[in-house]
Amino acid sequence: MTRFGRFDDEAREYVISRPDTPLPWINYLGSEEFFGIISNTAGGYCFYRDARLRRLTRYRYDNVPTDTGGRFLYLRDAATGLFWSPSWQPVRGELEDYRCRHGLGYTVIGSRTVGIETETLYLVPLGEAMEIWRTRVCNRRDTSATLSLFGAVEFCLWDAWEDQTNYQRNLSIGEVAVVDGVVYHTTEYRERRNHFAYFACSEELAGFDTQRERFLGPYRGWDRPLVVENGRSNDSIAHGWAPIGAHHVELELAPGETREVVFLLGYGENPPDAKFHPPGSETTDIRGIRPVIERYLRVEEVESALARLREHWAGLLDVLQVSTPSEHVDRMVNVWNPYQCMATFNLSRSASSFDTGIGRGIGFRDSSQDLLGFVHMVPGRARERILDLAATQLPTGGAYHQYQPLTKRGNDAIGSGFNDDPLWLILAVAAYVRETGDRAILDEPVPYDNAPGSEAPLYEHLRRAMRYTLDRLGPHGLPLIGRADWNDCLNLNAFSEEPGESFQTVPNREGGVAESVFIAGQFALAAEELAQLSDLHGQADDAAAARAERARMIEAVRAHAWDGAWFRRAYDHVGEAVGSAENDEGQIWIEPQGICVMAGIGSDDGTAERALDSVAARLGTPHGLVLLDPPFSRYHLELGEISSYPPGYKENGGVFSHTNPWIVIADTTIDEADRAFQHYLRINPSAREDLSEIHRCEPYVYAQMIAGKAAPTHGEAKNSWLTGSAAWNLVAITQWILGIRPEHAGLRIDPCLPSAWDGFTAVRRYRGATYRITIHKQSGVTGRIRALSVDGREVEGTLVPLVPEGRDVTVEGTVA
Ligand code: BGC
Ligand code: NOJ
Repeated sequence: MTRFGRFDDEAREYVISRPDTPLPWINYLGSEEFFGIISNTAGGYCFYRDARLRRLTRYRYDNVPTDTGGRFLYLRDAATGLFWSPSWQPVRGELEDYRCRHGLGYTVIGSRTVGIETETLYLVPLGEAMEIWRTRVCNRRDTSATLSLFGAVEFCLWDAWEDQTNYQRNLSIGEVAVVDGVVYHTTEYRERRNHFAYFACSEELAGFDTQRERFLGPYRGWDRPLVVENGRSNDSIAHGWAPIGAHHVELELAPGETREVVFLLGYGENPPDAKFHPPGSETTDIRGIRPVIERYLRVEEVESALARLREHWAGLLDVLQVSTPSEHVDRMVNVWNPYQCMATFNLSRSASSFDTGIGRGIGFRDSSQDLLGFVHMVPGRARERILDLAATQLPTGGAYHQYQPLTKRGNDAIGSGFNDDPLWLILAVAAYVRETGDRAILDEPVPYDNAPGSEAPLYEHLRRAMRYTLDRLGPHGLPLIGRADWNDCLNLNAFSEEPGESFQTVPNREGGVAESVFIAGQFALAAEELAQLSDLHGQADDAAAARAERARMIEAVRAHAWDGAWFRRAYDHVGEAVGSAENDEGQIWIEPQGICVMAGIGSDDGTAERALDSVAARLGTPHGLVLLDPPFSRYHLELGEISSYPPGYKENGGVFSHTNPWIVIADTTIDEADRAFQHYLRINPSAREDLSEIHRCEPYVYAQMIAGKAAPTHGEAKNSWLTGSAAWNLVAITQWILGIRPEHAGLRIDPCLPSAWDGFTAVRRYRGATYRITIHKQSGVTGRIRALSVDGREVEGTLVPLVPEGRDVTVEGTVA
C-alpha cells in the first residue's frame, strides 16, 4: 500500500513525503481571530474572524487542477531561466526531497531543485491578525546562484460570496496602495469599510505587482506567470479587475549560503471615524499597523512566535496525556484528536476543503457537541461559547440553527425548527460544569434572541430547552421531529418535489405527527444531566420533575419504539414507522441505538444488548458502522434528503463517523469491551493510514463520512476536519474506553479496556489538580475496576473525590 507520509510522534507533526496526495491534505493556522487553511502544497486561504465576511485571499473551490490557489512562491534561476514553486503548486515542476510537516498551528514545506534548497514555515502568531511565511533559501551548489524569489497572493474583495458572484461590480472596485514596499489592499475602504489587508516582505524589492493580469500575462495561469518567466516585475498598480500582492526579491547566494526572507499577509483595522491620514484625505491611515509589520518582518520575531505557539499547544494538550498499548490511541488522544477538536471550536462547520466559508456560521447543535471535545482545554472560551449560543436561544426554548461569528446573532439562513437543537445546550453546559465545577454559570444572565431586556439566568434557558421538547410531543408521547433532528436529512415534513430546493429551508407541510425516537433518547440523556445540574443548583423539585419526565419518555420509547431487535428511528408525517423490520429499506438506523443506550435505556431488560448486537451484525463493515441498512435505493418523498443521496453515501448508509462513537460508548455501558474498541479503531484515522489510497483524506483527522458498503467507493472518506466526530471520538476513547470521566463530584475512573491490553497510564489535569493514573490489567481478559487506590489508600467504587487545587494525586486501579 502506498503511504503518503508518516506520523512524527515526537515532534507532533505529520510528515507528508510527496506532494500529490490523493486530496489536498490540510492544516489550520491561527487560534483566535485570524485563521488560514493551508494544504500540503501551500494552497488555501485566510480570513479574519468570519470566513465569509472578512476573507483576505481568494480561493476557487473545485478548481482544476485542484487547490491551485493560495500562498504562491516562485524561484527563478537566472542562469537557466528555470522557475519552480518550492511547495510544488502552482508550477508543479520536478522537486527533490519534498517534505511537508503539518504541526500544531504551523506548517513547514521544504524541497530541493537544481541544488537550491527551500524551506518555508507558515504560521499565525498568537494574538496577531496575520500569517507569516518565512522562507529559507540555501544554495547547495558549489557555484554561486543568482535567483529571483517571488511571493504572491490574490486578494478577495472581502465578502467571499459577493467576490464570486457580483463581477459587474467587482471588476471595477479593486484598489491598492503601495507604501514603502508594502502592498495594502484597500478595496471599499474609501466607503464603508474600516479594514484593509497588507502583504509585506522583509527584503529590499526588485519590483512588485498588484494587477493580476500584469503579473500573470494574458491567458496565463498561476502556474506560469509571465513576470516569473521573465524575471522582471512591472510595479503595476491595480485599478479594478483583480488586485494581488506580488513581491520580487533578488538573491545572490554563494555556495552553502542561506538567506531568510519573511512575507507577512495580514489584516488591519482603524476606528471608523479615524480611517484616513492626513485627516480629510482619502489616504488609508497605516500608522497603527506599520510597527506591527516591522516587528514581524524580523526573523527573530518569527522564531519567538513559533516558540510561543509550541508552548501554547503543549499547554492545551497537557490536560490529558496517555500511554497505552496502541500507538493509534496514543497519537490520536495525545495530539491529533484534541487538535481537530480545537479546529471545530474555532470554525464550527464554516471553512475547510469541503466547507467553503460562505455557507454556514456557528451551528447551535454542532458547537454544543464540539464543546464536549474542547472544554477541558479552553474552559474559559467554552464558557463564552455557551453564553453566545444561549443568547441566540428563542423565548420558546427553541433555537436558531446557527449564528454568524461576526455578529453573534442567530439567523434562519440555513433552516430552523430542528427539534433536537435546544437539548444539545443542556449537554454542553453539563459537560462544562463537570469539567470546571463553575456552577456560577447557571446564574449568568443571558438574553433570548439577543434582545436587550430579555435576560434570564442560563439555568432558566436550560429549563426552557427541556420544556421545548415537552411542549411538542406526538401521538406516541415521543418528541415531534420538526424540520429534522440530529440527522439533518431525515425531513419527515418536507415533501419536497422541487428540483434543487433546500431540504433545510423548504416550508414544512403542516398537520403531521412525525416523531423522533432519536430526540426521545436525547431527551432522556439531557433530562438526567439537567436533574444533576438542578441538584447542584439547589432546585430539588426541578430535579425530581426532570427525572419524572425522563421516566415517562423512557416508557414511551419502550412502549412505542422497540421494534423487536432494535429501536425504531421515527414515525413519519402520517404515523408510519421508520426504521422498522416492516420497512423494505432503511430498516435499522444507528442513531437511536446509540443515543438510547447512552441514555441508559434498555440496560435492565436486555434490549440494549439486543440493539447493539443488531448494530454490529447489520451495520458493521471493515471501514466502520454504516448509518442505516439497507440504504434507500429510490427517492422517498416522505423521508426527505436522506433518500436523495445515492446508496452508501452521506446519511444514506455511509459510515457517518459522528455516530460510531455513540455505539462505542453504548457498548462500554454493557461491558462489550472488545467490540467497543474494534468499532473505535475501524475509523481511527491513524489506524487507517495504511489504507490511504482508499481512504484518501488526511490520516491525522476524522472525516465526516466514509463511503458505506453499498457505495462503489466503499472506504473512501470525505469531508474531513470540521465534523462532530472529532469531539465524540475523543469522548468515547478517553471517557468510556479509558474511562477517565469528569463528574460533578470528582473524576470517575472506570475503564472498559480491550482484552489484548495490559493496562495504561495517563496524566489528567482536572480542576487545578494533577491526576497520575495507572491502570493494571492482565492481558487476555476484560473486566471493570475491582480495586482503586488514591494516594495509596483504597477507595470504594470508581470515583476519585475532588482535591484542592495544586495537588498531585496518584491513582492506581486494577481491572479484572
Ligand atoms: C448534509 C448534512 C448536513 C446538512 C447541513 C446536508 O446536505 O447531508 O450532513 O448536516 O446538509 O445543511
Ligand atoms: C452535519 C451537520 O453539521 C450536523 O449538524 C448534522 O447533525 C449531521 N451532518 C447529520 O446530518
